[in-house]
Amino acid sequence: MTRPITTKIKAQYYGEDLGASEGLLVAVARLLDPLAEGEALEVATENLSVPDDLRVWCRRAGHRFLNATRENGKSIILIERGFVRRTLADPPEWGVRMPRRGETVDMRDWQVGRHATIDEEAPIAGSLAPRGASIEEGAPTIEFSIRKRSDIWANAISELYEQATSSQWVGARDIPWQELAPLDEEVERAVCQIMTFLAENEYAALYVPARFIGQIHPHFTEAALFLSTVMVDEARHIEVFTKRALANGGGLGVASAATQLSLASLLEPKDFSTASFLLSVLGEGTFLDLLAFLEEHAPERATREICRRARQDETRHVRFGIAHAKYTIEADLSAARRFGSAVEARAEFLKSVSGVGALIEESLIIYSGGGMSPSSLRAGTKRVAQLYETMHANRVKRLAAAGFNSDQADHMSRLHTPNFM
Ligand SMILES: [Fe+2]
Ligand SMILES: [Fe+2]
Repeated sequence: MTRPITTKIKAQYYGEDLGASEGLLVAVARLLDPLAEGEALEVATENLSVPDDLRVWCRRAGHRFLNATRENGKSIILIERGFVRRTLADPPEWGVRMPRRGETVDMRDWQVGRHATIDEEAPIAGSLAPRGASIEEGAPTIEFSIRKRSDIWANAISELYEQATSSQWVGARDIPWQELAPLDEEVERAVCQIMTFLAENEYAALYVPARFIGQIHPHFTEAALFLSTVMVDEARHIEVFTKRALANGGGLGVASAATQLSLASLLEPKDFSTASFLLSVLGEGTFLDLLAFLEEHAPERATREICRRARQDETRHVRFGIAHAKYTIEADLSAARRFGSAVEARAEFLKSVSGVGALIEESLIIYSGGGMSPSSLRAGTKRVAQLYETMHANRVKRLAAAGFNSDQADHMSRLHTPNFM
């Protein structure tokens, strides 16, 4: 039976001699996708088996094969779109375009289209998909415990991400290892003990974000991606500090019980914000001053460069930590109290730890004084005392930047672990 063709032809495709299974079906399916039910696609073909193949395909795919006619050695086929959609999802976006910054495409500009909407709370049903992608019905749902924006977010996070990826460096190549030469034995021993201590602390800095990253709803992708850069940074810090201890004859030093206790307590908080506050605002913040001190008094260029580069990375981690604490406190005033209690509880837990530990303190004195002569030890002792004051003063400033008043900041800073991290 032939019916009168009233269907509107909305798309056309000339397939030359292309066979259905050679790729023609790709064009047919894609051209039918945007049509409304009842609208038609006209396919012209020189391939003699295409009319039969399309007739069978249409039945299976839920479209109507209206007719096929022969004209000048070609078959002209008319297909009417059925109601079946290939995916049960919102249609993909079209016309979405990030602005350019000169030659670059920058994460700061990627809030476009559906990707631009960042909710305060991500849907309970999560997917491993970019924010704004249409999720097909029937896809499995994945639960993520970090679903509230204030639990993970920081202003300027995209900028921090771009900064992180563009300032990566290579531990094997970017440190002037070739300049390492035998040092005064006491100084080398001090360097190695300090490097061991730094590496221990870096393990905490690596493992804390690692514990949370898999819990972040991909809706807050910027946070997950930024924390991934932090983990790469921390891995590199562990690498270079360990290499320095092993590279010049001294070997690894002692991991003290007090340091280990202090670091273990960083793994305690169950929520990211508290863990990040203790680690990044207080711990890594204090480390900025330590690394600046080690850079200033380094006995040779390799150690100086290690400390300088690690400090640059840490500056970014601390910026994130402060920005996240501020964001959380602004969203929920009780967060400030939560952070305060965590600092108190940690101080109580660590009350047996009275100082950074004799081995580290002695090493810092010898390192910064330049040896064990009386004048070196006098200079080193003074410098280390000064370092503690600088650490306290800068901690207070960072706490103020996160949103605490000066009394709270002073109190919290004094309670901070004598282990620095
Ligand atoms: Fe680090
Ligand atoms: Fe860090």
